[in-house]
Amino acid sequence: MKVIVVGTGYVGLVTGACLAEVGTNVVCVDVNEAKIKDLQNGILPIYEPGLEEVVHRNFQNGRLSFSTDLASVIPGAELAFIAVGTPPGEDGSADLKYVLQVAKEIGASMTNYLVVVTKSTVPVGTAVKVNRAIKQALQERDQLLDYDVASNPEFLKEGAAVADFMKPDRIVVGVNTEKAQQVLENLYHPFVLNGRPIVFMDIASAEMTKYAANAMLATKISFMNDIANLCELTGADVNKVRKGIGSDPRIGDRFIYPGIGYGGSCFPKDVKALVRTGKEYGHAMRILESVEAVNEDQKKVMFNKIDRHFESDLQGKTFAIWGLSFKPNTDDMREAPSIVLIEALLNAGAKVRVFDPVAMHEAKKELGERVTWGTDLYDAANGADGIVLVTEWNEFRLPDWNRIKDSVKAAVVFDGRNIYDDVTLQKKGFIYYGIGLARTNSTTVLV
Ligand code: UDX
Repeated sequence: MKVIVVGTGYVGLVTGACLAEVGTNVVCVDVNEAKIKDLQNGILPIYEPGLEEVVHRNFQNGRLSFSTDLASVIPGAELAFIAVGTPPGEDGSADLKYVLQVAKEIGASMTNYLVVVTKSTVPVGTAVKVNRAIKQALQERDQLLDYDVASNPEFLKEGAAVADFMKPDRIVVGVNTEKAQQVLENLYHPFVLNGRPIVFMDIASAEMTKYAANAMLATKISFMNDIANLCELTGADVNKVRKGIGSDPRIGDRFIYPGIGYGGSCFPKDVKALVRTGKEYGHAMRILESVEAVNEDQKKVMFNKIDRHFESDLQGKTFAIWGLSFKPNTDDMREAPSIVLIEALLNAGAKVRVFDPVAMHEAKKELGERVTWGTDLYDAANGADGIVLVTEWNEFRLPDWNRIKDSVKAAVVFDGRNIYDDVTLQKKGFIYYGIGLARTNSTTVLV
């Protein structure tokens, strides 16, 4: 089976590499020549655990190749995935210009029956537009070739994308013909040998499933952040509340960790897009509007705690920021809450020293010389008036607090992910602030 994947971003590259890994012949296509040249030389545009090995192995065995010329690789393919970007427009809706441009090019160059699959996260109704673009391109060539469109949203978590692709919880596929269903069933058969389902449905439902999944997960997080903030005021401890509710299987113990707000390339964009779709259809998505508002406020929670602790006098103070990426195991800085915090600290006249195990290169594009770049967590903490744990990378979990205590100016820790034990830190002489922990909120610090 020959498969084309258009777009070598995060989703496209993982999809292409993992399909090749089970024996499919895959050509990954991108308009960006430099990116394709790099990939041909084994250089990946993103950091994702395990991906480099899969790409190298399959490039070397010839099952995975890279090209900038879509028209020349389309003939003979059975499937073409569209995995190009859908950046949010000014009004929050997903911009489909790249998706439709690719659909048009596919229509202009196909020579045989083809299933064209949207993999990018696209609003309900996009497949209809993709279909129209292909049909139009075929008509312009006076060709009556048979083809189908399908929708196959991804549920890949950054940092675990290869594992998620190879061993999915489920695969969701929207199709409107038996023929297309068969092609996709053949393609995905090797990935569901573990018994997990390929859930076939109509195209509109598949498109909606992706948004509903991400919106539900974002809702869980904003809900817990709201509860955490109320815990602080009422004397409750959100860690206990979390355990108390999570053992109910109807609620579940995953994705209920309070923090400093969700970020990344999916949740913020998808929640906005679904609110926007609601508006288009005259239906207010009231829960999701609140999910977004709570998240925006949550990104400021750590700054507010810092500001209160130092009685709004941050001028000239130095803060160590541990972790920059929106979550661990990725260098992705998109919508990272760290940026909101750092900007607020800089605006208040503070100095910032940062360290992240992987994302510093990406973060430099945004922060440049406005912050000091640490060589490790200890270097970032050196001379600081406060340490802020922003991203819960494993290497931040068990620092040598005695060493840190000797090098900081003031021993205060603001833990944005509740990964440290407050009592342990207090015993070592630190003032500790977490999220949703009444006894360590700004007014009732245990010392
Ligand atoms: C998400 C979905 O999980 C994935 O299925 C989808 O296809 C793409 O979007 P991703 O953006 O990679 O994946 O990150 P995820 O691990 O889901 O975390 C998203 C954000 O939520 C992060 O900022 C994380 O810190 C935050 N989060 C997550 C919490 O604050 N609390 C939690 O309990 C879980």
